Amino acid sequence: MNDTLHMNGTTHVNAAAQPRRSAAVPMAMTETGQPAGAAPQAGSAAHRSAPVPLHGAAAAQPTTDSTTPSTPEAVARTDGRHAPIGALVYFSSASENTARFVASCRLDEVGVNVYRIPLKPGAAQLNVREPYVLMVPTYGGGDAKKAVPVQVKRFLNNPANRAWIRGVIASGNTNFGTAYCAAGDIIAAKCRVPYLYRFELMGTREDTRKVRDGIVRFFSERRG
Ligand SMILES: Cc1cc2nc3c(=O)[nH]c(=O)nc-3n(C[C@H](O)[C@H](O)[C@H](O)COP(=O)(O)O)c2cc1C
Repeated sequence: MNDTLHMNGTTHVNAAAQPRRSAAVPMAMTETGQPAGAAPQAGSAAHRSAPVPLHGAAAAQPTTDSTTPSTPEAVARTDGRHAPIGALVYFSSASENTARFVASCRLDEVGVNVYRIPLKPGAAQLNVREPYVLMVPTYGGGDAKKAVPVQVKRFLNNPANRAWIRGVIASGNTNFGTAYCAAGDIIAAKCRVPYLYRFELMGTREDTRKVRDGIVRFFSERRG
């Protein structure tokens, strides 16, 4: 498995605590349509190493959004002294592999809010209004149109949610060959954010350590 860690925080994102203008994302992510962004193939050289350039700091603008943000599933422990350093937003299906991985990272203990995108269609929409890294399992069995779960597409189709995405982490199963973790390629291309990491199923202890440390570093290096 190629588990190249792209969370060195040197080149990718200006993650100032402002939403990015939604116009930076040229195409709405549809629930059925093929994304028009030319996503690199999973496992390709581009996937492994190329940072995805943003449209620049000039794209950062406050919005007039008055939606009440959702409450995190796990609230960052900051002892009341600091603001959270950032957030992780994740989706996990009924098999809960990603949920177990997220729990093992214990991100709330290192100052990161954790939000979960609801599984059930009737659930209240998740509204996130702080910089976040999105973690998404890949589905579709090799069909790129279905690689990103519908629930994640719905979440990102809300421009106010999309404005705060700063990076993506994907999971999958290497049995799917070139479609391994393809959801990360698609989201990175569409949202113009770096593809930070990928892992298989519930991840290893090393994956847990890298993601936990990497997310802290990713957000900390972008403060101020
Ligand atoms: C129907 C189905 C299709 C899948 N398609 C892919 C795929 O195209 N690429 C991939 O890397 N993993 C694929 N997977 C594997 C899932 O991404 C993996 O099991 C993941 O850990 C599921 O996370 P979750 O339990 O949090 O939903 C698929 C799994 C299922 C059940």
